[in-house]
Amino acid sequence: MIKSLRGMNDILDENESKRFTYFLDVAQNIARRYGFHYIETPLLEETALFKRSVGESSDIVGKEMYQFIDKGNNDVCLRPEGTAGVVRAFIQKKLDKAGGIHRFFYHGPMFRYERPQKGRLREFHQFGVESFGIESVYEDANMIMMVSDILKELGIGYRLQINSLGDNNCMPQYRDTLVSYIESIEDEICEDCKRRKSTNPIRVLDCKNEKCQSLYENAPKLLHSLCESCDNDFEKLKKILDANDISYEVDTNLVRGLDYYSKTAFEFVSDNIGSQSAIAGGGRYDRLVEFLDGRPTPAVGFAMGIERLLELIQMPQESREGYYLGAMDEEAVDTIITLTHKKRATDKAVCEYKAKNLKNHLKGADKMNAKYCCVIGTNEMSEGIIWVKDLEKKTEKTIFLKDF
Ligand code: HAM
Repeated sequence: MIKSLRGMNDILDENESKRFTYFLDVAQNIARRYGFHYIETPLLEETALFKRSVGESSDIVGKEMYQFIDKGNNDVCLRPEGTAGVVRAFIQKKLDKAGGIHRFFYHGPMFRYERPQKGRLREFHQFGVESFGIESVYEDANMIMMVSDILKELGIGYRLQINSLGDNNCMPQYRDTLVSYIESIEDEICEDCKRRKSTNPIRVLDCKNEKCQSLYENAPKLLHSLCESCDNDFEKLKKILDANDISYEVDTNLVRGLDYYSKTAFEFVSDNIGSQSAIAGGGRYDRLVEFLDGRPTPAVGFAMGIERLLELIQMPQESREGYYLGAMDEEAVDTIITLTHKKRATDKAVCEYKAKNLKNHLKGADKMNAKYCCVIGTNEMSEGIIWVKDLEKKTEKTIFLKDF
């Protein structure tokens, strides 16, 4: 038997797929309310796009890419995340040259060759948004408010962690200070951190190795080295969140796993889903458009991991909906098909193709959670009527077929 690949799941269990589509309905509605519109980009992109954006020093590019040479000898890669493709599309469509504000949302599968475990898949789904053209920290707060609104509407509790990663003014100086610190403890840190020291030193702060973590507790903090502009923005961000009742923790070690961030970085975590607790993450990436050969454009965004949210979603009470139609005699089946087709112009309607007795039709209607069970036999047909039971109110009546 051929099975799905390791770390790649089907979403077919009714309970799970209902949650999945409910999540998308809620998230898309909220994104539209915030003035974002849908963008779709290809799953496959040139490998160079991710190398240059997500960064060669990141685990994603270093270890986790689904990368291959296609039949045309192109080095391509299944997207490990959504931001790079959206930025590529933004530049390719010359929206950077057009200027103005452009706000997009997207959802779809992402691919990372990670070690699968609960909450960590090789193919997973993200819902994300990207906003271009706004330098103001108000837009950073807007992103955080949007995630918070989505989680609130889904009944999901969270902890929000925020940090600032500085900009071109303050980051290089901080990087030098950090490198000196790393050199002072170099004998004690893990091999990954030794590599990070030369590729992207701030990523050491994100190391999961416990010994490294304790060594970095005394490392110089970027938040203490921010330039005036970054510091003002970070203070302002905290004020906006306070004023809008969004609680947060400042996590000076939050550096995010992708290289393109500057200034605001944030992560939403859940304490109820085990070790893979990040349910959303994002931040500002003001240098990325220019880095991918576009006109310099400030940008900020986030992505949420849909699979990690599924078990946390509080589904609204489901009410009975639509029509179940069934025939009691073979001769009535054609009529049922036509009536069902007519009903579907305005309502949900499902019909049973096999003739059955009333009891079995009632069972079928109940199973699909229909509001009405409508049944017809040869007797009803000759009288031009159909029997209808309202399964919510527990009332029944007959209706003329012409009025149905
Ligand atoms: P990220 O933090 O790499 O950010 O991923 C966002 C979310 O995707 C995570 O918080 C997590 O919920 C989910 N996720 C990541 N990896 C996996 C996995 N292997 N299995 C299941 N879920 C996973 C980004 O991808 C950025 N593009 C976010 C962004 C958008 N920043 C700015 N704009």
